Amino acid sequence: MSQTVLDVRDLEAGYEPGVPIVRGASITVDKGEIVVVLGPNGAGKSSLIKAVAGLVPISRGKVLLDGNDITAAPAHTMVRLGLAFVPQTENVFPLMSVEDNLKVACGILERREAPARIAEMYAMFPDLARQKRSAAGNLSGGQRQMLAVARALIIHPKVLVLDEPSAGLSPKFVSMVFEMLSAIRKSGVTILLVEQNAKAALAIGDRAYVLVEGKERHEGVASTLWDDPVVAELYLGQRPLKPEAGGAA
Ligand SMILES: Nc1ncnc2c1ncn2[C@@H]1O[C@H](COP(=O)(O)OP(=O)(O)OP(=O)(O)O)[C@@H](O)[C@H]1O
Ligand SMILES: [Mg+2]
Repeated sequence: MSQTVLDVRDLEAGYEPGVPIVRGASITVDKGEIVVVLGPNGAGKSSLIKAVAGLVPISRGKVLLDGNDITAAPAHTMVRLGLAFVPQTENVFPLMSVEDNLKVACGILERREAPARIAEMYAMFPDLARQKRSAAGNLSGGQRQMLAVARALIIHPKVLVLDEPSAGLSPKFVSMVFEMLSAIRKSGVTILLVEQNAKAALAIGDRAYVLVEGKERHEGVASTLWDDPVVAELYLGQRPLKPEAGGAA
């Protein structure tokens, strides 16, 4: 039987009182899954996962992590609870070396555990090992995302939540990021992912939701969601999901 790791129930959240941006959204992520949240610009995808991560005030609903209610947990306690959030930007310390970025991220680990865990991250991401003394700000966009993900993974999260990890990357690095996420899932990590790059995200995902105006309007198996006419309709008659040969969606 599948085990629900993240259970978001009827969530309402927003930046100002009385102005909900997330409007009763419900999504679940089972252990070992990659779940993708798609949706038009401004649908509230970032707001939804930021609310889950404790970064946007929640006015209704619940967030359960492994059955524990974390709805009211402040963002800085999420790591300890097992939820690692990788924001779209500003997800590394650019002036610090790669190694120091990883050391800082070890925060909640036992001090004696940290070196071995950093070594594991270097084994998983050889690019980072090669550049351990470079400032994070000097990495390529793709490597910087790698570092952001390594920082999140280092504390063995129950769920890794990412906001558009492929945004702004050249096609080569886009594939690199998705290959990396696929490998991370194979290593047993559960992933919730918001993406504009629908084609690539659905290719590695298990299930996907389409969020429109702050609520999930459709849910399906990632591999078939692409061709679901309902999805095109939800994108207001556009067809942003249609794949271009070899190109980004
Ligand atoms: N910090 C903020 N303060 C106030 N309103 C915000 C803030 N961030 C986002 N919003 C508003 O919330 C709505 C949803 O934005 P959000 O960034 O969650 O959408 P999104 O689906 O992630 O869009 P995109 O595809 O462009 O990333 C928008 O109307 C936006 O203007
Ligand atoms: Mg967004």
